Amino acid sequence: MTDLSVNIAGVKLKNPIITASGTFGNGREISEYYDLSQLGAVCVKAITLKPRQGNPPPRIAETPSGILNSVGLQNGGIDYFLKYELPNLKRYDTKVIANISGSTVEENCELARRLGRDVDLIELNISCPNVKQGGVSFGTDPKIAAEITARVKESCAVPLIVKLSPNVTDITEIAKAAENAGADALSLINTLLGMKIDVNTRRPVLANNTGGLSGPAVKPVAVRMVWQVFLCTRLPIIGMGGIMTGEDAAEFMIAGASAVAVGTANLVTPTAALNVKNELVGYLEKRGIKNVSELIGSVLAY
Ligand code: SIN
Repeated sequence: MTDLSVNIAGVKLKNPIITASGTFGNGREISEYYDLSQLGAVCVKAITLKPRQGNPPPRIAETPSGILNSVGLQNGGIDYFLKYELPNLKRYDTKVIANISGSTVEENCELARRLGRDVDLIELNISCPNVKQGGVSFGTDPKIAAEITARVKESCAVPLIVKLSPNVTDITEIAKAAENAGADALSLINTLLGMKIDVNTRRPVLANNTGGLSGPAVKPVAVRMVWQVFLCTRLPIIGMGGIMTGEDAAEFMIAGASAVAVGTANLVTPTAALNVKNELVGYLEKRGIKNVSELIGSVLAY
């Protein structure tokens, strides 16, 4: 029997498969297709203190091998999350990761305090490219990334994951800053800033003009960044960016990820995360690998 369990900052996941924030409707829709208890963890859509409507539509556009989104952190706010979303997720035997996306340092601290120990891990989003305040502006300067990490960490009762942006010159600088400031784990990558223009109307396809690119188109960038961050920090990494198959998941783990998040694939196939898990098991069994952790950082780089 293959041991699929992995450890993220002292939290044991039964397997390394997580649903990426914002891609599975906080479980309600996807739970009609399979039992969420089969996942290592679920990471919920960005939470803010007050409800947010998000950006005006259109805010999703298909691109070759990917999608652009400019959702703008639409969510019901922390009260709604604690009252309606979290109790539903707690019915499942899986870990819950809360993605917090406040527009100020104080808002993120308050969100962490309000969540307390009601979730297993908190993911601090310093990488959303679709908002004017907060978001990626927290995650592109090592000093600001360190400051917000340190402040939010003080307010966290559970381990803190910092979610990194690929929209930087050197992701290792931000990763090291977050580690030195007290992050317990890192997740990467969030989306790559992109744009699509309708050549007939000459209008951007997204009402926000730009959006974040995800899906298989970004996977090589994400794998490269996971590998670079694995080499320069000691923190567990949750790798994501275009994972569609079990072999994609294995690739991220070989690059250095301790766990992986499936995102855009959920929008294509509702059972994607479960399929990735089953395919990963097949990959391991075929090679006689008894423990999935053996993959972590095992790349034979030149
Ligand atoms: C969004 O809601 O705009 C996407 C969230 C993110 O990219 O962090």
